Amino acid sequence: MAMRDPRETLIGWLNDAYAMEQGLVQVLENHANDAKDMPEAYRKLTQHLEQTRMHAERVRECVERLGGSTSTMKTAMGTVSGFFQGRSTGASPDELVKNALADYASEHLEIASYRALIVAAQALGENHVVQVCEQILREEEEMASWLERQLPMIVQDYLGQGATVGAGMGTASGGSFSGTPGGNRF
Ligand SMILES: [Fe+2]
Repeated sequence: MAMRDPRETLIGWLNDAYAMEQGLVQVLENHANDAKDMPEAYRKLTQHLEQTRMHAERVRECVERLGGSTSTMKTAMGTVSGFFQGRSTGASPDELVKNALADYASEHLEIASYRALIVAAQALGENHVVQVCEQILREEEEMASWLERQLPMIVQDYLGQGATVGAGMGTASGGSFSGTPGGNRF
């Protein structure tokens, strides 16, 4: 099995990363929109959306510096992001949980991709690519860690809305919004 020219391989992998970032721009736009009633999550998702746009630009610049082109868009990663996006477009009640799972998974795909790119770029002495990928990697790791901290709360929030009948403030069984006589009050 013949190996491709290492430089062509690096360009190909950078193109994969470019396509991945482009796909995730669309996913994050949807997920930020889904979270617009949650100010902190909305702010964080919007911030990462801007970072993701910049990641795509910086990766594209790396490809061009190496003499490659991003004009022929790869579709492999588009399939991955299509899956994530597809999980979020329905109006399912646990949408925010599913969005968080998809975002957490995609951050880890990005982390793995940039770690691999750093090794490849180091092997080829492409220090500019190493630096760019290290900067992007830090932002992906920061987002992954934020998502990891949010996940328990997002799940608990969801269960709190739908599953805790009669617990705590009693909004489901005896609340004033339902209009039913508050029979269980004491
Ligand atoms: Fe990214």
